[in-house]
Amino acid sequence: MKMNVRTSQNMYEIRMGHGLLYHVSEIIQDAEHPFLVSDSGVPQQWRDALQKQYPDAHMHVIEQGERSKSIKVCSEILEDMLKHDVSRRDKIIALGGGVVTDIAGFAASIYMRGIRYINIPTTTLAQIDSSIGGKTAVDLAGVKNSIGSFWQPEMVLIDPDVLTTLSERHLHNGLIEAVKAGMIKDPALFELFENDDYMDHLEEIIERSLQVKKEIVEEDEKETGVRKLLNFGHTFGHAYESYYKLDQYYHGECVGMGMMTILNDENIRKRLQAVLERLKAPLNCAADADAVVSLIHNDKKTDHDTVQIVQVNEIGHAELQKWTMKEIEERAER
Ligand SMILES: NC(=O)c1ccc[n+]([C@@H]2O[C@H](COP(=O)([O-])OP(=O)(O)OC[C@H]3O[C@@H](n4cnc5c(N)ncnc54)[C@H](O)[C@@H]3O)[C@@H](O)[C@H]2O)c1
Ligand SMILES: [Zn+2]
Repeated sequence: MKMNVRTSQNMYEIRMGHGLLYHVSEIIQDAEHPFLVSDSGVPQQWRDALQKQYPDAHMHVIEQGERSKSIKVCSEILEDMLKHDVSRRDKIIALGGGVVTDIAGFAASIYMRGIRYINIPTTTLAQIDSSIGGKTAVDLAGVKNSIGSFWQPEMVLIDPDVLTTLSERHLHNGLIEAVKAGMIKDPALFELFENDDYMDHLEEIIERSLQVKKEIVEEDEKETGVRKLLNFGHTFGHAYESYYKLDQYYHGECVGMGMMTILNDENIRKRLQAVLERLKAPLNCAADADAVVSLIHNDKKTDHDTVQIVQVNEIGHAELQKWTMKEIEERAER
């Protein structure tokens, strides 16, 4: 599968194929001296597969987990790049989940005023969602993604075989973003999850999700309008994530609970519930409602007394709505 994403910075290719990880150096042009970034949780076999193609390249391995998505770890990456004489013509190759692609992309965007980078996502979440779209970030003072940039990758290489080592919980976590993509723009994608054999359609799920995101991002790269629809489930989802200090629940799981909270239509809610149960994902959590409301109030997407949320009243169609803080408060009790 090949797909092109058109952005204001460049046009880049997403390629998906079995065993692609073993052919990176043949696919990528002019990368004699790449700087590789990965994390300690990416199984050695995948890191070796990349390193063997670039025996002289340095691989900077960060500690696995969201806590590594910090300015401090980013600055260590940047220092290591300087130490290894990475120049403006060189590129970063990021091999890992969303933590690695977010921080490596951010490092690429600021190193020497911006160098090129290539994403090789290794989790469902990163393959379905975070490795495309050009949002890069680190967290600051416990606030997720508060420092970041829009910086597009030069290419995204997806090898579904690397998912075979992923834990079931992480696998499902990423799939919840695909469920979301289906709910906002692709009913057939959502319906794939309504059958027990959804795992037989994993590649179709990844491809359809990327197609949804690509179309939206091409229309609104900087999230001034339609791109906000990708945040379906994220208003409450982000609040749950912050409430639990990014510890107890994964991002996709929080988005799943956030969609359950925000949905008005009881029938759609029931269908989503059945899908989340199939994915063994939580439906709700015990976060304190007042705390959740104040987290939403403090969120950067809130202006004064209203909050922009995404609603789905028909599967495949999403819309932006303005909710008052009072409406948010009432819903938080759900
Ligand atoms: N930039 C965006 O548009 C965007 C969108 C959504 C989420 N995100 C970010 O993505 C991050 C979450 O990403 P994630 O869910 O991929 O988490 P993650 O990167 O922490 O990966 C999850 C775990 O799986 C391990 N792992 C990675 N690949 C593996 C493999 N093939 N086999 C076994 N283990 C493997 C990792 O080491 C890690 O421990 C969050 O920081 C979130 O903010 C970014
Ligand atoms: Zn998300």
